[in-house]
Amino acid sequence: MERDIVIYPNEILKTKAEEVKEFNEKIINLVNDMFETMYKRGGVGLAANQVGVLKQVVVIDLHSRTEKQGKEQIVLINPEIVAQEGEIVKEEGCLSLPGLYRKVKRAAYVKVKAQNLNGEDFEIEGEDLLARALQHEIDHLNGVVFIDRLSPLQKRLALEKYKKLKRKYEREMAQKR
Ligand code: NI
Repeated sequence: MERDIVIYPNEILKTKAEEVKEFNEKIINLVNDMFETMYKRGGVGLAANQVGVLKQVVVIDLHSRTEKQGKEQIVLINPEIVAQEGEIVKEEGCLSLPGLYRKVKRAAYVKVKAQNLNGEDFEIEGEDLLARALQHEIDHLNGVVFIDRLSPLQKRLALEKYKKLKRKYEREMAQKR
């Protein structure tokens, strides 16, 4: 089932998500809904905060917009960055800040420790787009959005632009209903 996306500056996006302790049907449903919602919106990653659930759950599919969609789904429960290297600046966007894109500095490589849907530990390493997606989504679970990674001046400018984009988005959503 597709869920509504929480739009910045909603407090849920600024709140730390809780650790998942029970790996049950509810979490499986949440993950399925998150993938469906992410594909509908054309995103490559989604954190549970963005559908209004304060649980440490992230889904990623870098092929979200291609014919390979669904073939390399990544589910991360209680993820944590355990190593990182390098630095790379690239443009980034977020389904919770519709229409806004800014260059953000991120580590070029990260190693993440997480649990799967069965509660088993695993590690995943990523460079480039995957490294960026991992950092962006784990930030969400910690109540951080990508504009929080900008300098204070750049963030202020981004917020001015975002105010207009948000009004436009809200008008479009109102028309769809
Ligand atoms: Ni995001």
